[in-house]
Amino acid sequence: MSKNFLVNIIIWMLLQILIEVNSQMVPFKPIGYFHHTATLIDNKLYILGGRLENETSAKDFFYLDVSVPFNTQELSWQDLSNINMVPPHDSATSVKGGANNNTLFLYGGHTTDQNMALVYTFDSQSIIWDIPKITGINMTKKRGLKGIIDYNGKFYLWSGEYDVNGTYVINDMLILDTLNLNCKKGSLVNAPIPRSEYSATLLPDNKIIYIGGANESCFFGTTLNIEIGVALTLSEIYIYDTANDSWNTKITSGKIPSNRAGFSAILGLDGQRVIIYGGYFSNPGYLDTTLYVLDLTNFNWYVPKISGKIPKPRVFHEANLIGKYMVISFGYGYDRTVESDILLLDISNNEEYVWTTSFDPSVPKNIIPSPSPTSSPIPSRSLPPSSQLSDNSSNNSNINIVGAIVGSLLSGIIFLIIGCFFLYKWNKNKQNKKIIYGNDNNYNNYRQEEKEIPTERDYEQAINNEQNIIQINDNEPTNDYHGQEIILTPDESMIIPANDHEQTYKNESTTNHEPIIPESFNNNYNGERFSLQAFKDEMLQAVKQENQNLRNEILQVVKENYNK
Ligand SMILES: *[C@@H]1O[C@H](CO)[C@@H](O)[C@H](O)[C@H]1NC(C)=O
Ligand SMILES: *[C@@H]1O[C@H](CO)[C@@H](O)[C@H](O)[C@H]1NC(C)=O
Ligand SMILES: *[C@@H]1O[C@H](CO)[C@@H](O)[C@H](O)[C@H]1NC(C)=O
Ligand SMILES: *[C@@H]1O[C@H](CO)[C@@H](O)[C@H](O)[C@H]1NC(C)=O
Ligand SMILES: *[C@@H]1O[C@H](CO)[C@@H](O)[C@H](O)[C@H]1NC(C)=O
Ligand SMILES: *[C@@H]1O[C@H](CO)[C@@H](O)[C@H](O)[C@H]1NC(C)=O
Ligand SMILES: *[C@@H]1O[C@H](CO)[C@@H](O)[C@H](O)[C@H]1NC(C)=O
Repeated sequence: MSKNFLVNIIIWMLLQILIEVNSQMVPFKPIGYFHHTATLIDNKLYILGGRLENETSAKDFFYLDVSVPFNTQELSWQDLSNINMVPPHDSATSVKGGANNNTLFLYGGHTTDQNMALVYTFDSQSIIWDIPKITGINMTKKRGLKGIIDYNGKFYLWSGEYDVNGTYVINDMLILDTLNLNCKKGSLVNAPIPRSEYSATLLPDNKIIYIGGANESCFFGTTLNIEIGVALTLSEIYIYDTANDSWNTKITSGKIPSNRAGFSAILGLDGQRVIIYGGYFSNPGYLDTTLYVLDLTNFNWYVPKISGKIPKPRVFHEANLIGKYMVISFGYGYDRTVESDILLLDISNNEEYVWTTSFDPSVPKNIIPSPSPTSSPIPSRSLPPSSQLSDNSSNNSNINIVGAIVGSLLSGIIFLIIGCFFLYKWNKNKQNKKIIYGNDNNYNNYRQEEKEIPTERDYEQAINNEQNIIQINDNEPTNDYHGQEIILTPDESMIIPANDHEQTYKNESTTNHEPIIPESFNNNYNGERFSLQAFKDEMLQAVKQENQNLRNEILQVVKENYNK
């Protein structure tokens, strides 16, 4: 083989890598969804699925980093669609739960894919989707409901539309324990009539408040007014006590919002009020405002004082409490060329809520009220859930970060050199056909690696994998997998997971579903040859990770400076 030929190959590969990496670094552009899910896990807001304007379901999966300041006019979405194993769907519901309390649990939804499972999990640390095996009762398949996870990791799935014939609501309460993956049924004694598109909010005392909804599927036009009146009243609300599995109805007073469904609700930062936004309505008289607050101390509805640019009403959106904001994502009813997919309502001041476009991840110190002397029935939460947003690792981690950046740059260069070296060796050996996949374990390792498109993987990992793939004639391939990795997270400056990889590998072999094999792999892995394309992809993968790490680290530094 001529030297020139080899040099050409290397230059070509580097060029390809550069082009592909650059095209990857362009932030993901969502196409607009409603009936999607939005799940907050460790400062990332994950958006999954949803319905598209053309009445098909989306298969997109992406996230927004909320550990750093951002403006809603310039959202930097990160795409994870290529690792998504959930079929296109909409109207599902999701929570953060699991044994490590960092797993996305997706339940139900509407799909045309007959093979869609009832429950999926996404481990945000290992970045792996799975179909968990759930013991206990057979779960009904529902859609258009709002699942709530309590403080003990139990996922409550009340009512919703039965997703067989699609048009009738079903009354049942599924309780899925996300820690031991067991499902049972809850009580329906004194439960309200079944419904879909209601709102549900977990209160500080581990009770769930259910508000509004529709008694069947509704048709609505662009005005968001229901043309057939089936939205349910907000003059009463329903409280489910997770402690003793009992229901209770409360009559509300004050400026009761019109009947509505498809709206969103969050708990106020003081834990004493529920804020609702949007939805579709039966009474156009209430369209002057779409924001209402229910005072939980007396079940009185009121319209809060609002400033900022009032957005158009939305329906079938999602709302998450992130820091001091009610964060509205996507939905139906707004012009995407005019308004951002993300709306921010600053709720840190109960006297006046502010629609804003800039997100500040720091949580003000004064939002936790001192317990009121007139002992309210709702105890204040000790901490807002996102108080971890303001970490103070900045004191000791700046040096680490700078070191990490320099280190990654250096290791990136070294890696390229090593890559070129191995490529050279491989080319030399090619004619002898020494390099083939030796056994299934290696094949699985490779697949495992391809499944994860990690965003916070350390560079060492890439090198380890590279070695695994090169050392294919090793008889104990899994032993090479003990290389520990260092992951930078926004919360801790550095954590070293204990053989995280081996665990996921074991999990993989014990679950009985077929792991997904990304297309790129299928294309590249034709039979047993370790092709040039696969090698190039592997390098590309490592460089992408490298870029992502750098980006995260820089963001980290920005964030810390910001918090000072
Ligand atoms: C619906 O829209 C999406 C996104 O624009 C597109 O990918 C898909 O092909 C469309 N489906 C149909 C049936 O038009
Ligand atoms: C669940 O469904 C399967 C098949 O439909 C049935 O064989 C099994 O008995 C059911 N289990 C329970 C607990 O109802
Ligand atoms: C999981 O984290 C949330 C805060 O994000 C907390 O309220 C909840 O109690 C935790 N769940 C478990 C089972 O520890
Ligand atoms: C679905 O609808 C068909 C007829 O429309 C009915 O025969 C069938 O029982 C329904 N299935 C369920 C599970 O309700
Ligand atoms: C929903 O409510 C409307 C109005 O009360 C009623 O006409 C309709 O039959 C109800 N639908 C169901 C499925 O109960
Ligand atoms: C459940 O507990 C609440 C108090 O938290 C009590 O008011 C209610 O009566 C109890 N219900 C049942 C069915 O035990
Ligand atoms: C942050 O730093 C302050 C003082 O430097 C300390 O009291 C507090 O415990 C720290 N918080 C965390 C979460 O480490």
